[in-house]
Amino acid sequence: MSVWAILVAAGRGERLGTDQPKAFAKLGEMPLLAEPLRRLDESEWIDAVVLVAPPGWEEPAILLAEELGCSKVRACVPGGETRAASVRAGVDEVPDDAAVVLVHDAARPLLPDEVVERVIAPLAEGWDGAVPGLRVSDTVKRVGADGGVVETVARDGLWTVQTPQAFVADALRRAVGGGGEATDCAGLVEAQGGRVKVVPGDPRLLKVTTADDLARIASWL
Ligand code: CTP
Ligand code: MG
Repeated sequence: MSVWAILVAAGRGERLGTDQPKAFAKLGEMPLLAEPLRRLDESEWIDAVVLVAPPGWEEPAILLAEELGCSKVRACVPGGETRAASVRAGVDEVPDDAAVVLVHDAARPLLPDEVVERVIAPLAEGWDGAVPGLRVSDTVKRVGADGGVVETVARDGLWTVQTPQAFVADALRRAVGGGGEATDCAGLVEAQGGRVKVVPGDPRLLKVTTADDLARIASWL
């Protein structure tokens, strides 16, 4: 059973506000991309990696993979306008005989290998996908444009979800082939009627969105 990972790193990083794309912002001495790429390459659960780079940054992404001594990178392709388009570009590089595809955000550099194991395991039990999640602990309110509270949402059963997200390869192919947009891949699979399980995530999988996030993650390294 071969497991392919797609590392999506093609975003611009507008909220981070650096000159280069977010994947090439510095985390310590290295570009942010180095950390998740090395971790996926070293994971015993992953057989091959497809790197989705910011358009025009494929060359530096390949050089970085070489510098890190990565041995599993099979393709490096430019991403699209949206995250879903970037995932689609990555899925196109995955061969037909791949059994499982795992999609991970380069913007979540601190990928624990236990989480990779946790999201792959449910696929052997008949689930179409599995995603890491954290139970919502704060009170959740829907707020209108004027700042007024519209409603307080019942918190039971609410989780925030992260990446890596693992899928039966055919389920993900069908989902991205639909051409829809969703904020995560699981949303596309759910829209096609796929069954997706939530497994325990990890607070270290914080996504770098702002400069504060980058500083916090650097302090955890
Ligand atoms: N991503 C991508 N292609 C896009 C948009 C996003 O590959 N067109 C990737 C990002 O590189 C990131 C992940 O999807 O690893 C999550 O996206 P996000 O955190 O929103 O990153 P950016 O889109 O780069 O940031 P921003 O929204 O602030 O511009
Ligand atoms: Mg974005």
